[in-house]
Amino acid sequence: MENIRVQKLHKEYTRWNWQAGKNEPFTEDMTLFTLSTPGSTYALAALESGHLAHVYYGKRTDDEDLSYLLRLGENPYTIKVNSRDTGTFMDTTPFEYPTFGTGDYRESAFALTDENGAAATSLVYRGYEIIEGKPALVQELEDCKVTLPSVKGCPRCASTLVITMEEVRTGAQVVLYYTAFRELDVITRSAVVKNTGDTAFKVTRAMSTAVDLDSDKYDFITLNGSWARERILERSPLHHGKQSIDSMKGESSHQSNPFAALVSHKADEESGEAYGFNLVYSGNFFAQAEVTQHKRTRFVMGMAPFDFSWTVAPGASFTVPEAVMVYSSEGIGKMSRTFHDLYRQHLIRGEYKDKARPVLINNWEATYFNFDTEKLVSIAESASKAGIEMLVMDDGWFGHRNSDDSSLGDWYVNEEKIKGGLKDLVDRVNALGMKFGIWFEPEMISPDSDLYRAHPDWAIQVKGLPLTQSRQQYVLDYSRKEIRDNIWAQMKKILDSANIEYIKWDMNRQITECGSAALPADRRQELWHRYVLGVYDLQERLVSEYPHILLENCSGGGARFDPGMLYFSPQIWTSDDTDAIERLKIQAGTSVCYPASAMGAHVSDCPNHTVGRSTPFSTRGNVAMVGTFGYELDITRISEEDRAQIPGQIAEFKKYNPIVREGDHYRLANIFEDNTFDAWMFVTKDKQKAVFTAVQVLGRPNYHSRLVKLAGLDEKKRYRSSLTNEVHSGAALMNCGVIVDLSGDFKSMVIEFEEVK
Ligand code: DGJ
Repeated sequence: MENIRVQKLHKEYTRWNWQAGKNEPFTEDMTLFTLSTPGSTYALAALESGHLAHVYYGKRTDDEDLSYLLRLGENPYTIKVNSRDTGTFMDTTPFEYPTFGTGDYRESAFALTDENGAAATSLVYRGYEIIEGKPALVQELEDCKVTLPSVKGCPRCASTLVITMEEVRTGAQVVLYYTAFRELDVITRSAVVKNTGDTAFKVTRAMSTAVDLDSDKYDFITLNGSWARERILERSPLHHGKQSIDSMKGESSHQSNPFAALVSHKADEESGEAYGFNLVYSGNFFAQAEVTQHKRTRFVMGMAPFDFSWTVAPGASFTVPEAVMVYSSEGIGKMSRTFHDLYRQHLIRGEYKDKARPVLINNWEATYFNFDTEKLVSIAESASKAGIEMLVMDDGWFGHRNSDDSSLGDWYVNEEKIKGGLKDLVDRVNALGMKFGIWFEPEMISPDSDLYRAHPDWAIQVKGLPLTQSRQQYVLDYSRKEIRDNIWAQMKKILDSANIEYIKWDMNRQITECGSAALPADRRQELWHRYVLGVYDLQERLVSEYPHILLENCSGGGARFDPGMLYFSPQIWTSDDTDAIERLKIQAGTSVCYPASAMGAHVSDCPNHTVGRSTPFSTRGNVAMVGTFGYELDITRISEEDRAQIPGQIAEFKKYNPIVREGDHYRLANIFEDNTFDAWMFVTKDKQKAVFTAVQVLGRPNYHSRLVKLAGLDEKKRYRSSLTNEVHSGAALMNCGVIVDLSGDFKSMVIEFEEVK
């Protein structure tokens, strides 16, 4: 299917010339590009003046020519016939990649500074190309090449429109990439800035996407929070001016997520328009919706422009991270499911992409730093009897680390704790029929470490400023290859020493005093981005040299739950908050953009270590089944009653997990509006099976059961309920609902629906 159409148009217009007091004809030659996905259309036009204008983004419209939306005839400021006021043209026209300093006072997407210090930037269209498939994004550095994470698109799945623009002052080439997917309502964007001249310039702002929508009637949805309450959905109507989210922490952060959506005011899970935007990046970012003077909306998203610049030497280029854009005319739920499909099919890689993940037990909440070989083996013995498949040894096994105050950077086994060595421990765990996983925090350095004593300059720092400590640790300068090589060599030694089948890659502090002992002063503002590229370089080494290892990313809980990380790890630790009730919001918020198959979720002990709440063991299990399932408790010390439930819970998880991992996710209740009740379901793609979960958070007086309408089933198919054994049509289950009879605090239920032929 041809999904990118290019038309050379010769248009005839008339405009009212108020000085002459009459209508005047004029013509405009333009190239119109129309990108189609199954349910959306995205159109842009290169005008005769060289400006690249945005024409349309929204529900699919197969009209041949949408250029009338530019309203060139009506627009009194049309540049071709109004040279006395080009500024107004610049400040009103919808642009594809708006630049700074030449009359467009809305938020700009791109700016560069030349050797004379000028910052005003102007781009003109030079040509286009269409590529079947989707090119990779690569950044060349002085000593290596780094592939930036991006969504994959084979020639069967996607085509890419490549538009070349030229910066007028410097001659720089700015190449814009637009990939349209054939089976999903997804368009991705990125850019590459090339220096084809003979003097260097600095890119000072390079957004991944900019979209000018012709209305301000949208709500802005973002996923915000803090440690232990990440990605809580917030929704507010747009108003005049700017609404933005960002991170300047060096990572995507607990506080904001590089996701934002613009949805029509009445949009809900099933209806209304939703535009979702997600940056495939794990560092500082910026996303903003701006309501302009003409009540239109400009949305931009990309790397945070504050404290950023990148010098592009002659012959070199700078690669802008990718943004994913999803359009849905069927509500927020469909938008989420499109993101889930895209990430499961085209972003997540490796052996575990479509595979069940082992049920794990992690010793963090069980022991914290207080463990040794015997303790771990005793946990594994009990866990293996209960059917748990992998033991993960968390923080505290290396250097002389007995609390969080030392040893990061010293990745050798502490044989006082791991007596007999790592191999002996792993062999003993393997002998129980379990896999073994290990924790690393490779980006960090403790002031109390051999590594810091040998290389104090390896920490990110600014000369003359005291270094801010956070969790008594500093961040390694990952812009330097020799530092990455050192950590990698240490990690490899550990990985090669025993049968390690899983890694939890943690990152427990943000960047402060962002300076490098190695980068020249005029490249200092590159450090934020070079750091992230360094992390990507090391994670790529890990997944390509150890493809059998299951990688789970983590950052003090869920501070790096972003598509950049998903490119390397099929799962990410969602939050340090393992309380089943807190998790309802955290997991529902996360699911707005990210698939359940990627959400690390564990059953932990009660009272919960973060909020002190006690919930039934069964509810903790039912909530954790929405993610990659595991346990994080001392199985040798929990009550016999709880322990006895584990085999049954694992059996349920295994039964439902294929539906959760590969199916369509429907949020049925809204925990953000009514925090007393939640319900969700997953339906297989062939609609033959579904699993429904409901959680009654607080008991209610004068209680009466409720009806919850299901979604995503086939109206005509008939389904048997595992709860009642009754058979009802999909139509009945979706239009009338199922009876949810839950009374009391923290009660939950799971029902499976299976088609009866
Ligand atoms: C933060 C993680 O989120 C926890 O699960 C645990 O691994 C600790 N770090 C260990 O320091």
